[in-house]
Amino acid sequence: QELQMNLEQIEKGGYDHFMLKEIYEQPAVIKDTYRGRLHANEGLIKMAGIEDNLQKFLNADRILIVACGTSWHAGLVAEYIFEEFSRIPVEVEYASEFRYRNPIIRENDVVIAISQSGETADTLAAIKLAKEHGAFVFGVCNVVGSSISRETHAGAYTHAGPEIGVASTKAFTTQITVLTLIALRLAQAKGTLTNSDFHRYLQELELIPEKVQQALETNDTAKAIAAIYKDAPNCLYLGRGYNFPVALEGALKLKEISYIHAEGYPAAEMKHGPIALIDEQMPVVVIAQKQEHYDKIVSNIQEIKSRSGKIIAVVTEGDTQVRALADHVIEIPRTVDALSPLLTTIPLQLLSYHIAVMRECNVDQPRNLAKSVTVE
Ligand code: G6P
Repeated sequence: QELQMNLEQIEKGGYDHFMLKEIYEQPAVIKDTYRGRLHANEGLIKMAGIEDNLQKFLNADRILIVACGTSWHAGLVAEYIFEEFSRIPVEVEYASEFRYRNPIIRENDVVIAISQSGETADTLAAIKLAKEHGAFVFGVCNVVGSSISRETHAGAYTHAGPEIGVASTKAFTTQITVLTLIALRLAQAKGTLTNSDFHRYLQELELIPEKVQQALETNDTAKAIAAIYKDAPNCLYLGRGYNFPVALEGALKLKEISYIHAEGYPAAEMKHGPIALIDEQMPVVVIAQKQEHYDKIVSNIQEIKSRSGKIIAVVTEGDTQVRALADHVIEIPRTVDALSPLLTTIPLQLLSYHIAVMRECNVDQPRNLAKSVTVE
């Protein structure tokens, strides 16, 4: 028993929980994930699984992404990135819906299955269905040799290392890293990005680990905010564009480990429902990066404020406009819009972590949840 405890302490590497350790590993594992693949100075992306099947991707009428949970959120981020960079139509589906609804799958479809564990039953079943219909199926998995990595025609691994915490953190950011690399390689092959944009994205991606490191410095701020809102019964997360899926993921993290009811919404949809919930009791986490449509997010914040909602804003370094309106701000470094989910997600992970710890929840093994869902 005692030996077991000590082993676990060692495995946690000095952190109180696996989840916190895994959050802090992100700068390193993002780098591990692009190492050998991203060659920013040469303007090259080398991924065997893509090069060997490049024509399939280039001939694809569309890309279908299937996944569950946090991996589905990574798929949503990828949808925005693929369509923007490589101009290929993308649809993202919950694997569980896809497999049961007689979907239209064509031979010229490329299906990307995203799964940390590589064992999720619904995702595996969706892959089998896609293969039966003649589609090319590409896997983005973390666990080497997993069922999904074997069932797919080709793939690219994330190099996140073992993820123990049930709430996924480093798997999410490394999935986005792999999918961004793929989108950039396809953009290069299709000529859908200007040369200068392409090079800028490569350079920016290379800088991401350093900026994630800086984003981790928001830990104390996140903890202080957590102490204020730890007893809130509800919480709303808002984001636009690339950061809409991050709002969903932020809300999922809070639900999973703290059992606070949370919802993520595209900020502009707030007026079609969630705004009715806003009063002085309601914390609203707004991802308000200094990027395209910044003025729109500022006006969303004004709408929340005029209804006395409490605003926790994730802003870009040096921001003044949102700072003047928000109750709390968390500042993260600036990057290009498309890569911002890799940074904005960090303080949201920390916020939910601290809230869960303060509520004395079992952070690494939340009630009713499993790390990998191998049954229906
Ligand atoms: C479970 C886990 C989630 C995970 C989801 C998909 O619900 O608790 O953290 O996102 O499964 O898992 P996968 O291994 O396919 O990414």
